[in-house]
Amino acid sequence: MTSRPLLTIVLAAGKGTRMKSAVPKVLHRVGGLSLIGHVLTAIRSLGQSRTAFVIGPNMDGVRAEAAKIAPEAEVFVQDQQLGTAHAVLAARTAIARHDGDVLVVFGDTPFITPATLEGLLASLDATTPVAVLGFHAADPNGYGRLILDGPEQVSVIREQEDATEAEREITFCNSGVMAFRGEQMLTLLEAIGSRNAKGEYYLTDAVAIARSKGYRVAAHSCVEEEVMGINSRNQLAQAEAVFQRRFRERVMAEGATLIAPETVWFSHDTVIGRDVIIEPNVFFGPKVVVEDEVVIRANCHIEGARLRRGAEVGPFARLRPNADIGPRAKIGNFVEVKNVTVEEGAKANHLSYLGDGRVGAGANIGAGTIFCNYDGFFKHRTDVGAGAFVGSNTALVAPVNIGPGAFIGSGSVITKDVPADALALERNEQSVREGWAAKFRTMMQRRKSEKRS
Ligand code: UD1
Ligand code: CA
Repeated sequence: MTSRPLLTIVLAAGKGTRMKSAVPKVLHRVGGLSLIGHVLTAIRSLGQSRTAFVIGPNMDGVRAEAAKIAPEAEVFVQDQQLGTAHAVLAARTAIARHDGDVLVVFGDTPFITPATLEGLLASLDATTPVAVLGFHAADPNGYGRLILDGPEQVSVIREQEDATEAEREITFCNSGVMAFRGEQMLTLLEAIGSRNAKGEYYLTDAVAIARSKGYRVAAHSCVEEEVMGINSRNQLAQAEAVFQRRFRERVMAEGATLIAPETVWFSHDTVIGRDVIIEPNVFFGPKVVVEDEVVIRANCHIEGARLRRGAEVGPFARLRPNADIGPRAKIGNFVEVKNVTVEEGAKANHLSYLGDGRVGAGANIGAGTIFCNYDGFFKHRTDVGAGAFVGSNTALVAPVNIGPGAFIGSGSVITKDVPADALALERNEQSVREGWAAKFRTMMQRRKSEKRS
């Protein structure tokens, strides 16, 4: 928690040309959440912070995402991409109005943590109006280097292209994340002149300017992984790998068993309880809640579903949005469930589609049962009462209600409601002809031998 009011400026104006995508860079997803969504989650944990996004022109998608994840945030448009200082100054009015500290973060750096941001802010004080987040780079190429002239004292940030041979040997690099005291910030930024042929304004020049005015500039450091930036599809995949590794570790630390963790894929919002067992090759899409003691067998695809205590699903189950699998209920192989509440102890163990409805407590859904929920125009509900028994290969043509305790004979196509405890059977009566098969075989074998001769 910071003591002074905080404004966070998220720079998201870059198009990300190296992504080769129609989608702006910061909208690409890691763990199912946009890159700016990740950054915002970290900012949120800092407590009371005002947020400003700086986006490029014609970035309606980014504007919409910002409105979704941070409706209270202000959005500024940087008309031309003239550098990081220019981008920050697009939010000038927000800075001028603000009385406190200001954080500048990049929208394409998804793993920044609240603890690191707090540490950076804590190194500001009345004589230190600027703080820079640095990291030791395995490969410093392309980064600005932090040149120190005292313990944790930055004298200048040297961009790669301006660095001398000796300076390029430095591996302590600028992450891009910086913190400012609001009082001095605009004066420092307005002193930054344009550089290079493109007339870019470098935020990093604020460091030397602050020093020339007699202020101190603090360096705070974090691990490289936290500030990895995403510039290409390859880096996006690397970031996904980092995200998944951390998520798996967290899920296990919180008491779940992953038999082959490297094969289980989570979303940013997956909730996994204690003593949950997850077998290999399971994929979680967004909005899944798995309560304690659930078992998920191999090769399941699960999204938007809730699995209640002690439920068992898979192998090869597909749970789609609003599948609510009750306590100790069982969903077996090749069963798809969408928008159905499966109540306590109910079972659908094999090869079924359950869409739009309810399966009452303790009911049994036989192999090959289909809820025919769609007539080509509208979706309809199927309601199976508690303790009902639906025989194999049944088509329940919705809307239809099966009363509690009813029996459905296998192979039935059920189009009318079935009362409680009744038997419903919809199929032709079986006919049997004694000895028919033996006679048939004899006749056919004779014909075949006649043909050959
Ligand atoms: C920047 C830093 C460098 C640091 C590196 C870390 C400067 C001058 N250099 O370099 O010291 O090591 O990040 O990754 O700051 N942006 C805008 N508008 C602009 C320009 C950039 O919004 O006009 C945004 C981009 O969308 C991106 C961020 O600012 O999110 C950084 O811009 P980028 O061009 O990637 O800076 P680097 O050259 O990587
Ligand atoms: Ca960059």
